[in-house]
Amino acid sequence: MTQNYFQELTEEINKGASQKGHPFRYFTLATVGLDQVARLRTIVLRKVSEDLKLTFYTDSRSKKMIHLQENKKVGLLFYNPKNLMQVRIEGMAKVVNDDKIKEKYWKGVKGSSKKDYTTTSAPGTSLSDPGQLDYLDDEDHFCIVEITPFKIEYLKLKRPHHIRVRYSWEVDFWESEYLVP
Ligand SMILES: Cc1cc2nc3c(=O)[nH]c(=O)nc-3n(C[C@H](O)[C@H](O)[C@H](O)COP(=O)(O)O)c2cc1C
Repeated sequence: MTQNYFQELTEEINKGASQKGHPFRYFTLATVGLDQVARLRTIVLRKVSEDLKLTFYTDSRSKKMIHLQENKKVGLLFYNPKNLMQVRIEGMAKVVNDDKIKEKYWKGVKGSSKKDYTTTSAPGTSLSDPGQLDYLDDEDHFCIVEITPFKIEYLKLKRPHHIRVRYSWEVDFWESEYLVP
């Protein structure tokens, strides 16, 4: 029975990556670095593999990347207000270093969006005027990050009872149990 909920959450996550306007298109990514403070930000879900690896793009100079060097464990939060469904994921982040894959993904980034990864100064650097950004001509800091989940929690608020299920990756299968919502 918990299998049904797993299928539902997998379908929703896949729709997030493939359907424009789906609430799971954006998720909240939490990282915790050596400073021990959870840092949260909104991220676009770019791709979901068959075995549920989640991919996003970022600037390699951003604070999240410093956190990932210090601690590869991340938290992800998805929420769909239309059906009151929340999916919480814990996983291990890995930077994709394969040049061929990077080139393929980079080609798929629209021209205007490419600028996001080519500012001369790193993201988070102080700026006197937002209109005065300079861009690199022949260099970029485009970075692909892939997250492998090891814990997934499904929560759906509904009547007559809410449903909360925890899935834990156990070597080669997802162990599941219902939890008190
Ligand atoms: C709608 C929206 C989508 C965003 N998508 C991304 C994204 O896909 N990748 C990314 O690195 N930052 C994205 N951001 C910016 C992040 O939320 C964050 O501000 C930025 O990455 C810097 O975070 P950091 O300093 O913690 O690394 C997005 C912000 C918004 C509002």
